[in-house]
This record gives sequence, C-alpha cells and structure tokens, in this order.
Amino acid sequence: MILGLFLSAVLLGLASSSSELYGKYLSGFTFASLDKMGKQMCVRECQSYPGRCKSVNYDRVHLSCELNTDSVTDKPEAVLDREGSTHIPISIFANNSVCGDLQCSTQEKCVVKKSRPSCVFIGCDLPRIKNAEDNGGILMYRKTLQCKTGYRALASLMCSERGLDKNATEFRCYKEVDQWTLIYRGQSGGTDSDYLSFISNGTSDETNENVNDEYCTSITKSPLCTTNYRTSLIDRWGSLGISQVQVALYKNGTKVVDLVFNGTGTNQESWFSPSQILSSSWSDVLSNQTYRYFDLEGHVTPGQWRNFQIWKSYGGCPNDLFWMASSYAEPGKACAQEQTSTKQYIYCPNTTHCNFEQEYEIADVMTVSIKMSE
Ligand SMILES: *[C@@H]1O[C@H](CO)[C@@H](O)[C@H](O)[C@H]1NC(C)=O
Ligand SMILES: *[C@@H]1O[C@H](CO)[C@@H](O)[C@H](O)[C@H]1NC(C)=O
Ligand SMILES: *[C@@H]1O[C@H](CO)[C@@H](O)[C@H](O)[C@H]1NC(C)=O
Ligand SMILES: *[C@@H]1O[C@H](CO)[C@@H](O)[C@H](O)[C@H]1NC(C)=O
Ligand SMILES: *[C@@H]1O[C@H](CO)[C@@H](O)[C@H](O)[C@H]1NC(C)=O
Ligand SMILES: *[C@@H]1O[C@H](CO)[C@@H](O)[C@H](O)[C@H]1NC(C)=O
Ligand SMILES: *[C@@H]1O[C@H](CO)[C@@H](O)[C@H](O)[C@H]1NC(C)=O
Repeated sequence: MILGLFLSAVLLGLASSSSELYGKYLSGFTFASLDKMGKQMCVRECQSYPGRCKSVNYDRVHLSCELNTDSVTDKPEAVLDREGSTHIPISIFANNSVCGDLQCSTQEKCVVKKSRPSCVFIGCDLPRIKNAEDNGGILMYRKTLQCKTGYRALASLMCSERGLDKNATEFRCYKEVDQWTLIYRGQSGGTDSDYLSFISNGTSDETNENVNDEYCTSITKSPLCTTNYRTSLIDRWGSLGISQVQVALYKNGTKVVDLVFNGTGTNQESWFSPSQILSSSWSDVLSNQTYRYFDLEGHVTPGQWRNFQIWKSYGGCPNDLFWMASSYAEPGKACAQEQTSTKQYIYCPNTTHCNFEQEYEIADVMTVSIKMSE
C-alpha cells in the first residue's frame, strides 16, 4: 500500500514534469497504439516495456496512447505538431517504474506478479512492411499479421514463441478493389511503355515505400504519381493460380472500358489474346472476331508504340478500325491524334468497334487486376 502510494506520487511527478511537449508528437516510431486511457496509465504502459519504450504520445482529446521506440532526446527532428497531443519522454534510468531496474528484451513486457516484476514474451518484432498493420512494431503472440483495410495478403504470417513462422520479408500487401487484386496501373502522360513496365521483371512497387499508393493505385490520375505502378506478382504469374485477368480504363475516375480474360494456363503475356476473352464492354470483342492486332506489346516501331493494342484493321489513319491501345507517338509518326510525345489511353466509346480518327476518346488511367483460385 505504502509502496503503491509512493509509486503513484513518483508517476504523478514524472507525468507533469517539464519534459512534456504540449501540442507535439513523435512521428514514425510508434510500436503500439492503445485506446481509452488516462495519461498516467499511458506512462505506466510505456514503463512496462523497459528496453523498448522510450516515450509516449498522449492524445487528451481521443484518450489514446502511442508507445514509441524513440523519443525527442534522440530524434528531435521527428517531433511534429498535433493539436491535443503531448509528447512525453520516459527515462529508463529514472528507476521510477513499477519494474525497478529490470530490463526486458524488445519482445517482452514487464509484468508484476506478487509484487515481483518479470519479463514475459508478448510478441514478435516486425520489420517495416508496406501497407501492413503493426508496420515495424510488434505482432502479438499467436496473432496473424493483417494488411490495412483495402489490401490483402496472399500468405499468412504468425507469431509463436519461436518467433515468426515465416520470413517476414515475404509478407506483402496488395491493393484490392471489388475482389480484384491490382497488379499493374498506368496513367496518361510520360513516355514509359506500359508493355515494358509490365514485363520488367523484379519491379516490386508493393514493397517500395517511395511509391505512394494513395496516388499510384488510384483510379483517378494524379500528378503526385510519377511511375507506372507494378507489383512482383507479375513475375510469379505461373504459380499464382490466376483464374481471371481484368483490364480497365478510367476517365476522370469513371470506368469506360472493362475486359476480362481467362488467366488459367497463361503466362505474363499470353493472357491478353482473343482466345482468352471471357467478357468485354464491346459486344464484338470475341474470340472469333478478326483482329489486326490483339497483344500486349502491339505495334512498335522507332518513335511510336501501341501497347495493350486491340485493333481490327489498318487502312491508313482515316480508315483504321479499333477498340483500344496505350499509345505513344512523336511528331510525324502514327496518326495525328497520337503525335503528342506522351502516352495516351485511346479507346472506342461505342459498344462495337470504332473508326479511329473520328470516334476515339481518351482515358487517363489503366489498371490490370487478377483473381486467383483459392
Ligand atoms: C533501482 O531500484 C532498485 C530497487 O528498486 C535498485 O536495486 C537499483 O539499484 C536501482 N537502480 C538504479 C540505476 O538506481
Ligand atoms: C528473408 O528473405 C530475404 C529476401 O527475400 C532474404 O534476403 C533474407 O536473408 C531472408 N531471411 C531469412 C532469415 O531467411
Ligand atoms: C521473368 O522472370 C521469370 C522467372 O524469374 C522468367 O521465367 C521470365 O522469362 C522472365 N521474363 C522476362 C520478360 O524476362
Ligand atoms: C471530373 O470529375 C469531377 C468530380 O467527379 C468533376 O467535378 C469534373 O467536372 C470532371 N471533369 C471532367 C473534365 O469531366
Ligand atoms: C479457362 O481456360 C481453361 C484452360 O483452357 C479451361 O479449362 C476453362 O474452362 C476456362 N474457363 C472459362 C470460364 O472459360
Ligand atoms: C462468334 O461467336 C458469337 C458468340 O460467341 C456468335 O454469336 C457468332 O455467331 C460467332 N460469329 C461467327 C462469325 O462465327
Ligand atoms: C460511336 O460514338 C460516336 C461518339 O461517341 C458517335 O458519334 C458515333 O455515331 C458512334 N458510332 C456508332 C457506329 O455507334
């Protein structure tokens, strides 16, 4: 009892000390976020991770508590403004916690039983994994790692006493929309060929923190995305059990073209062909149609290309009949409407093929997504 009073007094003293930074928080070092607690409790939670917790961000508006692996002492540059938040460094040498001078490993928490503190295993350390929950924090004992809302993982990752059951770098989160898993996205502008980006083995934007998914996986074009978004699922094509592949074009956030292919038994390129069509937004894009071009690479000559090209016939620009292409042409190449020296998504807005010169329209985003058999 006397000890309890003494500890409370010490904690109160600490929590109101001058080292508190009002209106501030430490960004990027949170390993656990807790809800519904007072400031004292938040400080005490931090103190029960001796070895790991060096500070807290306490939010008095939402009564939430973030435990951090670092503090203003070592990372002053990571302290940012946030209304209602208080950043509180917790000194591990103050010897004022319920755990005395007990030091636990980063995977342990100090628990006091019969007034004796000891370290107990609570979970596994996680590396930073793009779009995963608990990113760079602790995966609690017996829990499986989850992706953030709107993303899905293809494999599971669990924490046991022996640690993570798989190599955590293999755990990846993929953007999911209406049960389709996004594997590729391009937007109009620039000069990068969608075909070459699509087949560029090794590119793995699902793990690349420099690629901002908010913009680069969106169905609307954004100047803040400056790259073709590509996942490494494309490299593993044959082993994913891909049942269907969807190609969609969007104009100002509205879907204007939708093609679905049978992915069974295909490779990186062969899925995009007449024999694989399951459905399309054009009634005459069928496996028994005649095509001048229907392939991923399409028509490529110096200074021009048409990737993801579905074309009925060539007859000189005024007579070309077509459905779609990702097109690039320099002045003097291809047809007049293509000579912008930037990539454009041209498509036929009608329900059957169009005259290229007179009926084409321009979309701004293209996505390729897959469904896999479970
Ligand atoms: C912390 O307190 C414990 C007793 O609670 C004591 O044994 C230990 O020496 C103290 N450590 C420091 C660094 O003051
Ligand atoms: C985990 O996988 C990565 C690459 O995928 C590799 O570099 C690393 O050595 C692996 N770690 C272990 C412990 O196997
Ligand atoms: C991509 O890599 C896979 C295996 O790593 C290989 O089978 C395939 O031929 C490669 N594709 C290209 C276009 O290099
Ligand atoms: C694009 O969509 C936005 C919102 O849906 C709309 O306000 C805007 O007028 C549209 N722009 C064009 C060019 O259609
Ligand atoms: C997809 O292709 C596979 C292999 O050719 C075939 O067995 C299957 O019936 C096709 N699925 C559909 C829905 O047509
Ligand atoms: C092509 O297939 C469609 C339906 O799959 C059918 O209605 C049409 O008659 C076929 N056309 C030819 C020329 O065989
Ligand atoms: C195709 O669409 C264009 C414009 O959207 C329209 O002017 C034209 O009449 C349509 N052609 C056919 C054959 O439906």
